[in-house]
Amino acid sequence: MAESDFDKIDAVLHEFEGRKGSLIPILQKTQAQLGFLSKEAMKYISEKTKIPVSEIYGVTTFYTQFRMHPIGKNIIRICHGTACHVADAPEISEALYEELKVEPGGTTKDMKFTVEEVACLGCCSLAPVIMVNDKAYGRLTPSKIKDILAQY
Ligand code: FES
Repeated sequence: MAESDFDKIDAVLHEFEGRKGSLIPILQKTQAQLGFLSKEAMKYISEKTKIPVSEIYGVTTFYTQFRMHPIGKNIIRICHGTACHVADAPEISEALYEELKVEPGGTTKDMKFTVEEVACLGCCSLAPVIMVNDKAYGRLTPSKIKDILAQY
């Protein structure tokens, strides 16, 4: 971890100093700062907060919102909420995984994309939907995937 990463964690810890039960928000904010929670980051948080590293590890592995691996430059979220699921979201997922040569939750070798399957993205009328970073793409068909990825 870079020196600046330790500084970022220190700033997060400072924000929650003296507040009991803040482990989850500490981990959320640390992940927002660093992109993911490395073993080194968890160990550092443990040392500083005196929360056992086993407890921190238990929380990060229990909640799917936490990542323990670096993420790609662009995050693709594939909606698998009910509306999207019945509108062939599985086919969209397949097309994406094939095009990017990744597994669900995986990151491409060039670190350009990370793909996640999520619940409703809040724009069900456009099902099936994916989001690339903050931009939504709706009424998708597998054949549109290549053109969307080419924009990144
Ligand atoms: S179910 Fe996909 S956006 Fe709501």
